[in-house]
Amino acid sequence: MATSAFTRPYGRQSIDDDDVAAVVAALRSDHLTCGPQVPAFEAELATWLGAPHVTVCSSGTAALHLAYAALGLGHGDELITTPITFSATASAAYQVGATVRFADVDPVTGNLDPASVAALIGPRTRAIVAVHLAGLPANLDELAALAAPRAIYLIEDACHALGASYRGRLVASGAADAAVLSFHPVKHITTGEGGAVVLRDPERHRAAQRLRHHGIERDPARWSRSSPGPWYHEVVEQGFNYRLSDLACALGRAQLARLDGFLVRRRALADAYRTALVARFGGGANAPVRAPAVLPDRDSAHHLFPVAIDFAGLAVDRGALMTSLAARGVGTQVHYIPLPHHPFHRQRAGADAARLRPGADAYYARTLSLPMYPGLDDRDAAAVIDALADCLLELSQ
Ligand SMILES: Cc1ncc(COP(=O)(O)O)c(C=O)c1O
Repeated sequence: MATSAFTRPYGRQSIDDDDVAAVVAALRSDHLTCGPQVPAFEAELATWLGAPHVTVCSSGTAALHLAYAALGLGHGDELITTPITFSATASAAYQVGATVRFADVDPVTGNLDPASVAALIGPRTRAIVAVHLAGLPANLDELAALAAPRAIYLIEDACHALGASYRGRLVASGAADAAVLSFHPVKHITTGEGGAVVLRDPERHRAAQRLRHHGIERDPARWSRSSPGPWYHEVVEQGFNYRLSDLACALGRAQLARLDGFLVRRRALADAYRTALVARFGGGANAPVRAPAVLPDRDSAHHLFPVAIDFAGLAVDRGALMTSLAARGVGTQVHYIPLPHHPFHRQRAGADAARLRPGADAYYARTLSLPMYPGLDDRDAAAVIDALADCLLELSQ
C-alpha cells in the first residue's frame, strides 16, 4: 500500500471495504465505462444535494470547463473571480476563450469581497465565479444581487464545499446558475480523479452532457435529418471526452453513502482544533494563531483547516515552520498563492495583474492549512496543535 511521507498529511482519502467491494463489482460487470453506474451516481448526487441536474465528469477542472462552455461563455467575455483559488478556476475560462479579472477577498475568510467584485463589473462581464474557500461558503446572496439584475451568471466553484450550507441551503444545490465539484482524493468524497457540474437550466444541463461526450446529440428529435438506422447519431458541436468511468462512479456512489459520516468527523475535528488552538494560543482577533472564521449564517464543510498565523509578529519563516512540522510527520500546505502571482495568470491578466489586492495579500501572508480529513480523531488535532506550538516556539527563539 502506498504511504504518505507524512504521518498526518494535510489531506487524504478514506477508503473502506465497501468502497473496494463496489469497485470490484463494477470491474466484474459488463461496463467499465458508459454503463449504469454513471446515471446512478448522477441521480444519487442530485438527490443528496437537492439539485435539479448533475453531470459527472473526469475532474473538477473538466467540470469547470463544462460549466463555462455549457453557459456559452467564450471570446470577448469576462469572468470575475477570486485570486485565492486553484489555477483551474481561471484556466478553464481561458479554455473557452474568455478573460478573467481577479477581484479581492476578505482578508479573514479568503472569500470574494462583493464590493471589490462590484468595482470590476463592466460591459463584458458575463460571470462571477465564487469559490467556497476551504469549505466556507462565499457571500452568495450579495454576489447574486450583483449578478442577477445584470444578467450575469453566478457560478459556484464548490470543489472545497460538498456538504457546506449557506443560509440554510446546501451549496451546489441549484441556487446559482452552475456549480462544480471535485472528487480528487483530498476532497470530501473521491473517485480517484473526478468531478461534477450542477446546471440549473435543463438546456444547459443537456449541453454539459453532450460536451462531456464529444458533442454527440442522441435525441432524434434534435437531429438535422431523419435516422437511417440504429447506428445513427450526430456530432453537433466541439466536444470532449470528459467521461467518468463506471469504476470511478461505483467508488463515488460508495463514498457518497459515507458522506454524512465524513462531514460529521470533519466538523468534530474542526471543533477539536479550535479548542486546542484556544488552549495553546488564546482566542480573539489578536491571537498569534487563529482558527478559520465561523459565520452565523453558514456551515463550513471543512475541506481544509487553514489557520492564520502572524508570521511577521512571531518572526517565524513559513517555510521553516512547514519543514519543522514535516519533520514531526505533520503535513501542511498553503492555499493559495494568489493567482496573479503566477507567471501564466500574470501574463493573461495583463495590466490588471498589478492592481493591488490587499485582502488577498494579507490572507496569503498568514495562511497555513493543517491536516484535515476523516481519518483523524480529536487526539490528532491536539497533537498537531502541540507540534505547531512547539515548532513556533523553537523557530522564534
Ligand atoms: C477550488 C478548486 N477548483 C477546482 C479544482 C480542480 O479540481 P480537480 O483537481 O478535480 O481537477 C480544485 C482542485 O483542487 C480546487 O481546489
